This record gives sequence, structure tokens and C-alpha cells, in this order.
Amino acid sequence: AFGERDDREATVEVLRAHPGPLVLVTPPDHATPLDAGHVSIELPVLAESARLDVWRGALADAGVISKPELLAARYRLGPGSIYRAVAATLDRAVSGVDVTAELERYIRQTRDARLGQHARRVERLATWDGLVLPPDILDSLRELVGRVKHRRTVFETWGMEQTMATSRGLTALFSGPPGTGKTLVAGVVARELGLDLYQIDLSKLMSKWIGETERNLAAIFDAAEDGQVILLFDEADSLFAKRTEVRSSNDRYANLEVNYLLQRLDTFEGIAILTTNASSSIDPAFKRRLSFRLSFPFPDEETREELWRVHLPPKLPTQGALALDKLAHKYPLSGGYIRNACLRAAFLAAQDETPVTQHHLDRAVRLEYAELGKLSASGAID
Ligand SMILES: Nc1ncnc2c1ncn2[C@@H]1O[C@H](COP(=O)(O)OP(=O)(O)OP(=O)(O)O)[C@@H](O)[C@H]1O
Ligand SMILES: [Mg+2]
Repeated sequence: AFGERDDREATVEVLRAHPGPLVLVTPPDHATPLDAGHVSIELPVLAESARLDVWRGALADAGVISKPELLAARYRLGPGSIYRAVAATLDRAVSGVDVTAELERYIRQTRDARLGQHARRVERLATWDGLVLPPDILDSLRELVGRVKHRRTVFETWGMEQTMATSRGLTALFSGPPGTGKTLVAGVVARELGLDLYQIDLSKLMSKWIGETERNLAAIFDAAEDGQVILLFDEADSLFAKRTEVRSSNDRYANLEVNYLLQRLDTFEGIAILTTNASSSIDPAFKRRLSFRLSFPFPDEETREELWRVHLPPKLPTQGALALDKLAHKYPLSGGYIRNACLRAAFLAAQDETPVTQHHLDRAVRLEYAELGKLSASGAID
């Protein structure tokens, strides 16, 4: 209702004009729009043991059976959310039946609703089997997974949080050329950890309205901290790019967003994966705050042969020997393009009403190249 005026300024004005006592409820890390002299009460996020007490109490009050330990460990919810979740499943709770599944569904739906506007849950997550990556990258991925799995042990039980002034969140940057498996791997990591993967639509999230982008981001980060979620910022450059020299007022607002992000990442307790084609375009200040960086190499010839192999399923009817080594040698393509070519070859064969032959594969790659229209001297696609 404040129109185009700055929200905060308008709020300050309204509050100043109010003669009586005032209670103001704000999200965490929010600058209070009040003049000095107010009493500020901070409600902390409950620790797991405190959440466990609330779950036990709420379930006992309602006479509902569930697994409070599991719920307390998985979801970083406040008392209000916990009581609401229990109340929502009350009518479905036949006495004596465990309603953990219903409770989790409810919590997930609530989270979907909060994330829904700017994020999309990725439905089909890949598995380790389908990944073709060099051993050192796979090792790094196992380390990444381990960081999430053993978070509680290392930070809480072993007391590392007392000596580390960092947040316990995990932010990873995956960089590498197009089609090298960055998005694919984010899915594998999510599946391995049993978490939901949410892809953030940066074009929808970034608003031309001042302050709006920040609000959208705040909502997403807050929702992600409640647990069981990995945020995926694909093509993160647009958001995490280097701060620009301030030339216009637009630049200044863009820089404000970066500053907000930097501050938010410092306290972020959730898990986020950022992907980019150009890691050099990411602001160094962000890079320092990332807990994990992984660079995906362009596949070498041997890896490419394996990529051709994994993209041709056992059930696919083929005829004659398929010289995948020749394809790998001849065409320096990343996995994304190899996938496209395989699918294309299958359709070409289906059209011909024959099994897939080497000829189909060759034709498919050439069509793929032609479509890209970028056939450099080496045959590489830039
Ligand atoms: N290392 C890999 N192992 C197995 N399959 C791969 C690999 N890299 C790419 N692919 C195949 O290519 C498809 C596209 O890959 P993906 O979307 O993960 O690439 P990306 O690195 O995110 O590319 P972009 O930078 O364009 O977003 C995958 O779904 C998969 O079929
Ligand atoms: Mg991608």
C-alpha cells in the first residue's frame, strides 16, 4: 500500500505516529524500523534437542503417534509450525497408527508453497551409476556428501562449531563447460542424501523492483533452512556476478543485492549448489564464502566413449557393431551433446523402422553440430 516509496521509510513514519504501545514482529536479521529506546526480544531457532521436546509435547497433547526423534532431526521448525503440522494430521490420525508419513507430507507441502513461486522441485534425480566422471571428481563428490551426512557429529558432538566462526551451511560451486554434468550431479547428491532438490528460477526471482529480489531470496533461503532441501542456482552468474562499478542507480541496487547475499550466506544453515559456465565471473567475495568448489572438466576421448555407452540403454535395438570409440575420437562433445545425439539417433532409427546403426549415430551427431552452427576447425563446439 506504500506504492513506490521505500517500505522502510513509510513504516518508520507510521510507527512514529502511533501513540500507544507497539509490538513489532520481524523476520530474523531484519533491521528494526524503530527509533532507539525499544525493547528487542530475539526468539532463537530451536536446537534439535529443544525441537524434540516440542514434538513430544505436541504429539502427546494430540494423542498422536509418530517419530519425534526423526522429525526433530530432519526439520528445523519452530514450535508454531510443529503444532500446526500435528493439528493438520489430527483428522487422519486413527488411534494407534503412526502418522510420520502424513506429517512429513504436510511439512513438505508447506515448504513447497513457500518455495513454489520461484523454485521448482526436480522430480527425476539421477543415480551414481549413470555418472561418467574422473575418479578425483568422484572423490570430491563423496567428500561433499560426507560433509552433509556428518554435519551434526563434527559441529555439535565434536564441538567444531565452538572454534569455527563459520555457519554450518554448505554452499558448493560447480563450474565447467556446458553439458559436463553439473546439474546432473546436483540431482545425484540430493538423491544420495535423501533430500529434495529445488531449482531456483533466477529469471523469475530477479525483479526490476527495488528490494523485491532481496525479499524473494530471503524467502527462499529461510524456507531452505527448515531442512531436507538442496537449493540449486543454475547459471548462478546472473546473481553472483562481480559487483559492478556504480555508474547508474541500477548498479547501486544490483550491488545492494550482492551485499545482502553475502551477508545471508554468512549465516545460511542450509545447502545450496551454484552452477556456472564461467567461474571467473563469480564475485571473489562469494567465492571466499563457498564451502566447496568443484570444476567439471571437458571429457577426454576415453570418457567420451564411456558417455556414449551410458546413453545407449540395454533395451535399445542395435544392428552391427557400433564404433563408439570412433565417435569419441572424431567428435569432441560434452555429455549433454552426446545425450542429445543418442536420443536423436534413436528417433532416426524409429523413423526408419530399423534398429540403431552406426549410420544413425553419425547422422545424429552431424545434425546436432549443424543445429549448433558452430563447427570450429577442431570440430569442437564452443
Ligand atoms: N559426466 C556425465 N556423466 C553422465 N552423463 C552426463 C555427464 N555430463 C553430461 N551428461 C549428460 O548430459 C545431460 C546434461 O548434463 P547437465 O545438464 O548436467 O550439464 P550441465 O553441466 O549442467 O550443463 P549446463 O552448463 O549447460 O547447464 C545429462 O542429463 C546427462 O545425460
Ligand atoms: Mg546445468
